[in-house]
Amino acid sequence: MSNKMWGGRFETGPDAIMEEINASIGFDQRLYAQDIAGSKAHAAMLAAQGIIGTSDAEKIAAGLDTILSEIEGGGFAFRRELEDIHMNVESRLATLIGSSAGRLHTARSRNDQVATDFRLYVRDTIDTLDTQIADLQQALAEKALAHAGTVMPGFTHLQTAQPVTFGHHLLAYVEMLGRDRGRLKDARARLNECPLGAAALAGTSFPIDRFATASALGFDRPTANSLDSVSDRDFVLETLAAAAICAMHLSRFAEEVVIWTSPLTGLLKLSDRFTTGSSIMPQKRNPDAAELVRAKIGRIAGAFSGLLMVMKGLALAYAKDMQEDKEGAFDALSTLSLMIAATAGMVRDMEPDVAKMKAAAGSGYSTATDLADWLVRVLGLPFREAHHVTGRIVALAAGKSVPLHRLSLAEMQSVEPRITQEVFGVLSVSKSVASRVSYGGTAPKNVRAQAKRWLKKLGKG
Ligand code: ARG
Repeated sequence: MSNKMWGGRFETGPDAIMEEINASIGFDQRLYAQDIAGSKAHAAMLAAQGIIGTSDAEKIAAGLDTILSEIEGGGFAFRRELEDIHMNVESRLATLIGSSAGRLHTARSRNDQVATDFRLYVRDTIDTLDTQIADLQQALAEKALAHAGTVMPGFTHLQTAQPVTFGHHLLAYVEMLGRDRGRLKDARARLNECPLGAAALAGTSFPIDRFATASALGFDRPTANSLDSVSDRDFVLETLAAAAICAMHLSRFAEEVVIWTSPLTGLLKLSDRFTTGSSIMPQKRNPDAAELVRAKIGRIAGAFSGLLMVMKGLALAYAKDMQEDKEGAFDALSTLSLMIAATAGMVRDMEPDVAKMKAAAGSGYSTATDLADWLVRVLGLPFREAHHVTGRIVALAAGKSVPLHRLSLAEMQSVEPRITQEVFGVLSVSKSVASRVSYGGTAPKNVRAQAKRWLKKLGKG
């Protein structure tokens, strides 16, 4: 039997393999709510414009409501031979209300329909992600406030560089996530135009009101060019790009959690709620959640580049290639959501080992820059010369295997005779972080102020 939605000029039905490669219902059923909302807006507009009768429109709306509750109640039978969510809904509507159902598809096509549905879906997803990222920022800012004065080693090249505070380090991620939210918000603003009414590709001869459907669906305006309306998937690409960048941030944080919870550093503890055991080694406490957050970016970056490859070289307007926009995006966006939730859980769960952090912060001559700065400030040395003098003092201390503050004044003076006792005041890690008061620096009072600023901005201060 040929397809009852479009089979007028067909004599036989499709080959089984044709049906299998063609069908998207297996995944696009996820768009059911958006599809029904789009159809309701379209039918109401058709009636308001006198294109279909009021009683047909009422039947259509009631039938669509029934279908919505059937799907939500799990009682809807999706059929692969009906290809996709659009034809599954329309076919069921015909069963429910009869011939009025056939009027719904006036002045539209599945091409503008799917573009509209997917924009709505991506928009909803962005809104959920935004709320979730804000929650993660809150968890980080609260932990940062609690640890504004907790000194830890700051790294460059993963080598101990200068002491920082744990709060400062956490707030770095709050900044990144703020930019992630900004990128998603930008994508949302650009996607919020309604393709419905572009029809197959050229627009329609019916006197439709695209502004009415756009506003009924919460769009800012209709899209301006019918060809672009049905062939554009920038909104998915932009959202996936923003999602991939966000996932990259989460992956970096996750890697730090892995390093900090390793017995090699022991800087951080995760409770039983966020660790797993080993089936053979009874002593193990593995940070599996962090490792999976570190890894899952692969799916998201993959979905982005996958869709970019699908769109590349596609002539205008719609082509079935574009049906390949969905599975990767669905997976990527729900993966990101899981990554954010797991990261927020770990942040709320984690406790730093304050003593170990402080000890690690002082190792590796991390206050050498403080010594050099003192030579500049107090003795008036040019920085380059101070750097050189400090290097020689560090070499002296390293030769004796002692930290800087364990050298005697006489030993320091053997390198630079003008050094005084006062220098020992800047060599502790606490003094070091307290002195970093430049805007954006790690001084605990800065960190406290920044954490409070964020909490206030997030509405939790
Ligand atoms: N399932 C299709 C998709 O996801 C809907 C649009 C199909 N349009 C068409 N003319 N075959 O892209």
